[in-house]
Amino acid sequence: MNIQSIIEKMTLEEKAALCTGASAWSTTPIERLDVPEMIVSDGPHGVRRVPNVHEMASTSLPATCFPTASCLASTWDVDLIRHMGEALGEECIALNVDVLLGPGANMKRSPLGGRNFEYFSEDPYLAGEMAATIINGVQSKGVGTSLKHYAANNQEFQRFSISVEVDERTLREIYLPAFEKAVKQAQPWTVMCAYNKVNGTFASEHDYLLNKILKDEWGFKGLVVSDWGAVRDRVAALKGGLDWEMPGPQDRRVKEVVAAVESGNLDEAVLNESVRRILRIVFMAAKTPKEGEFDVEAHHALAQKVASEGMILLKNNGLLPLKDQQQIAVIGRSAENAHFQGGGSSHINPTKVTVPFNALKAQSEATEFTYAEGYPTDDSFRQDMIDKAVGLAQTADVAILYIALPTFKESEGYDRKDLDLTNQQIALIKAVSAVQPHTVVVLNNGAPVVMGDWIDGVAAVLEGWMMGQAGGGAIADVLYGKVNPSGKLAETFPARLTDTPPHLNWPGDAGHVRYGEGLFIGYRYYDAKEVPVQFPFGYGLSYTTFAYSNAQVSASSFKDTDGVTVSVDVTNTGKMAGKEIVQVYVHDKEAGLVRPFKELKGFAKVVLEPGETKTVSVDLDFRAFAYYHPEYSQWITEDGAFDLLIGASSADIRQTVTVNLESTLNLPCILDKESTIREWMADPRGKAVFGPHFAQMEAAAREMFHSDDNERYATEGSIGMDIMEMFSDMPLVSVLMFQKDALPVHPEDMVAGLLQQVHAA
Ligand code: BGC
Repeated sequence: MNIQSIIEKMTLEEKAALCTGASAWSTTPIERLDVPEMIVSDGPHGVRRVPNVHEMASTSLPATCFPTASCLASTWDVDLIRHMGEALGEECIALNVDVLLGPGANMKRSPLGGRNFEYFSEDPYLAGEMAATIINGVQSKGVGTSLKHYAANNQEFQRFSISVEVDERTLREIYLPAFEKAVKQAQPWTVMCAYNKVNGTFASEHDYLLNKILKDEWGFKGLVVSDWGAVRDRVAALKGGLDWEMPGPQDRRVKEVVAAVESGNLDEAVLNESVRRILRIVFMAAKTPKEGEFDVEAHHALAQKVASEGMILLKNNGLLPLKDQQQIAVIGRSAENAHFQGGGSSHINPTKVTVPFNALKAQSEATEFTYAEGYPTDDSFRQDMIDKAVGLAQTADVAILYIALPTFKESEGYDRKDLDLTNQQIALIKAVSAVQPHTVVVLNNGAPVVMGDWIDGVAAVLEGWMMGQAGGGAIADVLYGKVNPSGKLAETFPARLTDTPPHLNWPGDAGHVRYGEGLFIGYRYYDAKEVPVQFPFGYGLSYTTFAYSNAQVSASSFKDTDGVTVSVDVTNTGKMAGKEIVQVYVHDKEAGLVRPFKELKGFAKVVLEPGETKTVSVDLDFRAFAYYHPEYSQWITEDGAFDLLIGASSADIRQTVTVNLESTLNLPCILDKESTIREWMADPRGKAVFGPHFAQMEAAAREMFHSDDNERYATEGSIGMDIMEMFSDMPLVSVLMFQKDALPVHPEDMVAGLLQQVHAA
């Protein structure tokens, strides 16, 4: 297909129309030039294909509802997630969808974020791996994806308008890397811009984010689509790099674009570039034959597999796995009415749903199961329901509480107000566990809940997440030990809401939200502040135990461009086959700028029979050691020692190896007129040219604050302070100003001369 020749034949109106949707879910076809339409659908964890593309939200066609991203990331299993992506691709084909709107790669800045269930992690490395894997899976079938919501879309409060105030380094190290990795490793066909503003500019008009970073720097080849309704100024958005506006049709926008080109306000070359990007994807989509069938049963089974790998055993005093108990009281309406997905644009019409209670009953014929609803659908308090549940629990051997966070507390479109279960649910858990020590709590929620009120009283807690349509079977398998749980948290479970990193800067006001905690979200924050948490990032229990030994590195000293490989032996020391997720964090022992204590840079999931040992290896590349330096405007490495921390969670480091990195970078000198004495002396080139003058400057400084009291003279001087400490943090030029009469040239000329020398060096 010669796209250039099509563009040459297109009228201005046709170009403008192509850059806006023809319907809620399709591109504008151009019949006379054989340009077909392309159909997109939500996403991200299932296909929400509305039968009529002119309707935004009618009941969609049945499709497999897989677990949501919180659960997917908790699997840490890239092979499995790749299969899920392939299955999503197959369903897109069967449902005549060219591009699936997902995955979402935004960071979980606060556990209150209403859409956190659709996002993977508080950690950019893990989120990036997951996003890239799903994209590769879907796109391997000839179906496109839409990586969303680019960028810094981390809350629902004022999500269409709020301006995220975030510094460059935080953006680069926390909020962008998952997108960057997904773009570089998987080339999604489309990227969806966010609704919000970033540092005052709408993400839909953000030249820096869209043109400079996404397209130029990362080499994104696809098209940028707006989130639905994210465009305010169509012409500004085209200039800013937004290719395709959705939803359509938008006649007024088409006219605005035509008028802007005609008046010279918009260079037609800019429009042509967007047209080219859209046509390229439209024709890629057209190559994949659509329609047919997908294997409903096989995909349901896959959804169950994913759910069982992503569920996390948070607490177990030995009660689990269950045996053939005589009587089990099953309490909680989510046992009968599975809570398996979140509200909003990702809502899937499932092909079928496993009822958790039925799946549980199928596990043990010898057991009598009783049932009480336990809590209502709304926020009311019903003591009678609690009383009934307590009555059943009292006479049973075990009570299993199925507790789902209701949609009025968690959904797209609004943030959570607290991290609590409902009052009734908390009272229910306390009342039941007070009479029944063998109480298991099974949670269905998309984001952390606090458990301080009740966790000590229960025997076990299973985090079931928004587990997808087949999750009911996964819960039963895990409770009975048919599946040995292996999921680990992709986000910290805090002890209290007030402990969370952005607490003082959430959700913002007066149109702005300040990302004041900077780099320190998730475990980066809890590490730095030494704040105790309910469950740390990377944590999860198993029915077996694992020992780590013999950590090795491929080289104890290495060049940043070569990277290094770290390996460790993991042994299953228990009685049951199981899977362990090995995590590798990097700790920079000394850095020019402040850094988080440790950061996840690699992981591996390994299957082990009882007694078996396997060696797990993780490659660490340049980026595993680098940080983004805003003054150099690039990722930099520094010579020096790094600890490689190998752990079973972020709080359970089992092995440490120290390595030495040699940086191959030849960084430009960033000393300038305002550089302090400390900065001059810390920079090798600065020290070389200024060093010879240092002693003279110090002597003059000390003389200026000279004291007759010889004992104090050496350090404190006449004003009772450490003179050189103070001067070190002053710009060199300012210090010299105080000594100007003794200098052969004016201090400004002297500094200019020194700068000339360092920049020439
Ligand atoms: C959501 C997107 C979604 C789109 C289309 C928006 O409100 O933010 O994630 O893909 O609607 O439904």
